[in-house]
Amino acid sequence: MPIQFVKEKNIFVLHTAQTTYAFGIDNLGLLRHLYWGKRIDHIADFEIPDLAEISSNDPVLDLTLEEFPVFGGMRYKETCLKACFSDGTRDLEYKYVKYALKDNSLQVILRDTFYGLEISLDYTIHETQDLIERKATVTNHMDTDVAIEAIYSGQLHIPHQNLTLTATHGHWLAEFQEFKQKLGMGKTVLENRRGISTHNHNPFFILDNGATETLGDVYYGALKWSGNFKAVIEPRPYGTTLIQMGVNPHDCQLTLKAGDSFTTPEMIFGYTVGGFGTMSRNLHDYARKNLLQGADRPVLYNSWEATFFDVKSEEQIKLAKKASEMGVELFVIDDGWFGNRNSDADGLGDWYVNPEKFPDGLNPLIREVKSLGMKFGIWIEPEMVNPPTELMKKNPNWIYHSKNRQPDTSRNQMVLNLTLPEVKNFIFNMIDDLLANHDIDYIKWDANRPISQIGMTKEAGIRHVEAVYEIVQQIKQKYPQLLIEACASGGGRVDYGSLSYFDDFWTSDNTDPFDRLTIHKTYSYIYPIKAMRAWVTDHHYRPHLPLSFKFHSAMMGSLGMGCNILNFSEEEITESKQFIEAYKKIRPIIQNGDFYRLEHNSTNAYHLFEYTYGEEALLFAFLPQSHIYRASVNIKLQGLDENVDYSFSIPVARSANEIYEGLKSGNLTTKTKSGAYLMNHGIDLKLEGDYASTIIHFKKGE
Ligand code: GLA
Repeated sequence: MPIQFVKEKNIFVLHTAQTTYAFGIDNLGLLRHLYWGKRIDHIADFEIPDLAEISSNDPVLDLTLEEFPVFGGMRYKETCLKACFSDGTRDLEYKYVKYALKDNSLQVILRDTFYGLEISLDYTIHETQDLIERKATVTNHMDTDVAIEAIYSGQLHIPHQNLTLTATHGHWLAEFQEFKQKLGMGKTVLENRRGISTHNHNPFFILDNGATETLGDVYYGALKWSGNFKAVIEPRPYGTTLIQMGVNPHDCQLTLKAGDSFTTPEMIFGYTVGGFGTMSRNLHDYARKNLLQGADRPVLYNSWEATFFDVKSEEQIKLAKKASEMGVELFVIDDGWFGNRNSDADGLGDWYVNPEKFPDGLNPLIREVKSLGMKFGIWIEPEMVNPPTELMKKNPNWIYHSKNRQPDTSRNQMVLNLTLPEVKNFIFNMIDDLLANHDIDYIKWDANRPISQIGMTKEAGIRHVEAVYEIVQQIKQKYPQLLIEACASGGGRVDYGSLSYFDDFWTSDNTDPFDRLTIHKTYSYIYPIKAMRAWVTDHHYRPHLPLSFKFHSAMMGSLGMGCNILNFSEEEITESKQFIEAYKKIRPIIQNGDFYRLEHNSTNAYHLFEYTYGEEALLFAFLPQSHIYRASVNIKLQGLDENVDYSFSIPVARSANEIYEGLKSGNLTTKTKSGAYLMNHGIDLKLEGDYASTIIHFKKGE
């Protein structure tokens, strides 16, 4: 049994394969956090310490670790629930009521000691991935309203201080910029206030105690939410470190009417002694098994960067033909196909096919794409509207807009008020019509600006996100084969909330293959490779990048292309075809395998990544600038079977003299080595030239 209740002590013990999480109910009915860390099988050892205040200024409720502390009484710490009753009382006081245990899930019910407000805490164990999910539901059992001023998904406690936080910051074109900082005393807050998406911070935390990629304590978690989130991390004055995550209460208040309830998004969290690498592989495995089932993602071509808004049926057909010649499996037409969409100033909301660009509609293009044996995909941005459109003229009240204020536009567009049922229906029907009348396999769902002016209700920050999830879910129910990519001006909608509904992530509008290595790496801490779309494009800041470097960088995720392939030379077409063919062969390893960020101690700036799957492995090596007289890098692989012999082909390293004498480079030599040798002794690799890269494929030897 992964979850046990020790009746005599009123203690719940939640086991995963390697970890234990424990909490109990004390004699006051408080839900007291007891432990989170390495697995402890001897559960009889757990006990609930007596409540003891340190002084009149350090009250018990403030210093005691609770699973779900509420605002009220002498609690000055971060709390998970803040409410106001109709009589003006704002202090909450809860007591444990009962629990229900089933397989891998546990529900614990708390109730206010006076008012009819119930809190349900739900835990689900993912044993093999060492992960726990939790969420909270609050229900109003009174016949008067209750205002929920703040509700978080949960609070966690780490039995350490002096931890290092790894998280992301960034902005458009620079998503997933990793930062690491030692936690000082005081709070660290990661949050989003944009309503819809943020490139600035991502809803996850990683806290370590001197860990590396392969070893050490790491506590981590992510919130399944695609809107305003808040994570507070605080080393407490009394020892331990507190983490709280949930929907950001900033400009948000919920009114629960009689009988209403609200469930928070789930937070998923885990602990490992195996360093950052194990953390990522646990999360990736969880995502693949629970959220990303289904076939491997197809190789796509997206015409955005080739034609931008200037799409024309004939030209798209030409692009499709070239794409199929190169082995592309899915052709996606991006922005510009609908309404009066010739720039970003018009068209959003008028979702009819532009008759000048497509005189016979989209079907001739789709038929052509299908006859070439490819799937067809299309871009939409359903939550938005441009002011000049028919939609806006007919429904001026459909946008978020405060009275007596000028509506604010960004990228010339406004956000539709998805809390209105008629707007939700309009969006569902628009997508349903599009899919019913066209043979579409893939949707790229974009959202290119944050929300503002949500008005008086203060619920929109939550309701908008829920509405997006609901529409996507309804569409998926009706069209189960459809894949939907989450995009928000690049990587503004990458989170586990999206991943519970969408299938792919567009991680950045920055398609520079070198910049993308940073994005890939930080993304991979938390999110699965299979959902990471990456394209080979013409748009990057470094001239003369070899096509091989572009392909190798994009092949690290779900491969796509976005070049203007009509301008490609015969050699470029042939080369691309070869890369796509090679990708298809190794795709199962990339999309379903275990992922490793390899460390090395060479002074050369190599970027090294590895994937293992069954008895195969891939090593991706990138070197932006080579130093020809420097020694090779020694690479120790991970995750192989010690006793298996692996064959592989590796570039022959030329000596400095051979380079000087102009000896040919690029020769390969084939070797066979045991897993033990590859992981402990390692292989020596020397790449040459600027933006050099290679993929080495390790297969079980004959
Ligand atoms: C956003 C997306 C791009 C592209 C454009 C189209 O910026 O991130 O990939 O779809 O919109 O307008």
